[in-house]
Amino acid sequence: MKYQSFEAENGGLKIKVLNLGGIITNLYVKNAAGRYIDVVLGHDKPEEYLKSGCYFGAIAGRVANRIGSAAFTIDGRKYRLAKNDGKNSLHGGIKGFDKKIWAVENCSGDGWKGLRLSVLSPDMEEGYPGNLDMTVYYKLTDDSELVIEYIAFSDKPTLCAPTQHSYFNLSGAEDIYSHTLQVEADFFTPSDAALLPTGEVSSVKNTPLDFRKGKSLGDVLKAGGALLEAAGGGIDHNFILRADKGKLVKAATLADKSAGIEMQVFTTAPGIQVYSGNFIGGKRGKGGKTYKKHGGICLETQFWPDAPNKPHFPSIRLNPNEQFYSATVYKFKGVKKSEKAGKQA
Ligand code: GLA
Repeated sequence: MKYQSFEAENGGLKIKVLNLGGIITNLYVKNAAGRYIDVVLGHDKPEEYLKSGCYFGAIAGRVANRIGSAAFTIDGRKYRLAKNDGKNSLHGGIKGFDKKIWAVENCSGDGWKGLRLSVLSPDMEEGYPGNLDMTVYYKLTDDSELVIEYIAFSDKPTLCAPTQHSYFNLSGAEDIYSHTLQVEADFFTPSDAALLPTGEVSSVKNTPLDFRKGKSLGDVLKAGGALLEAAGGGIDHNFILRADKGKLVKAATLADKSAGIEMQVFTTAPGIQVYSGNFIGGKRGKGGKTYKKHGGICLETQFWPDAPNKPHFPSIRLNPNEQFYSATVYKFKGVKKSEKAGKQA
């Protein structure tokens, strides 16, 4: 079988992952009543992930988000990528990490159980230099966290900036309007009509993107406004996090009262693309459902889009003999853990 599914369970969480794209097809959270609720969107069949163009649950890379004019320069040499999003490159190209077959194995450590995924992206694959050796861990901790770690090495100077593209919906309702979102960001990177950063850095103050105190997503998405209209009728923006030299820092909190579940996000990354599922309306999802626009929300912890062409943005260059490391934690509250969940952190 070309496509295989793997699973792991711990701390009141259960994850199902495909070797295709490292796709998280299901992330179950045990609610107060002890019942597992699937909090991510996806498709029923592996083949559908190849066609839908939504990146449901996938690892996006080598470089997540957009690279302007699908080109960049390293040490004076120009590299060209496929233009798979207008004239720009999106999420690693035509066959990015989301469409590769990963080697997956179960593993465990102190306080966690999970999966180790690895893949080799050969030199010049999708136009990126260097053989890139990529490992991703999905760890379910005793403390009801999904910890995602990315480790990479290259044999030539290259770019590396992956993310996880899960769409969350904590309530199972057809939209995320009953959710609240809080984002630890004072600034965002404004973008043009193609959603490519202009290079500016703007304050979120007096914009619909001011989530510093936490707001109802329904209120924000239904109110709309020019900024959201320009992004496909919703949020699809890179927020600037208060990154601190590779330490895990609080990035966001997504909560839904009706489900009684709260999800906190921590990351070492300097940004987070909040994307409110503006382009998923009409897509066929799990259980034969047809998804609606705003049916889920991605909290893509990442470097800033078009970083290689914006010298004042944090660099995504990876040199040989250097280790790329990035981590993101999705911590669930309101989870019923099993009695034998082990020691608590
Ligand atoms: C990212 C982008 C969106 C969209 C989705 C995939 O989140 O920011 O504009 O391309 O991926 O549909």
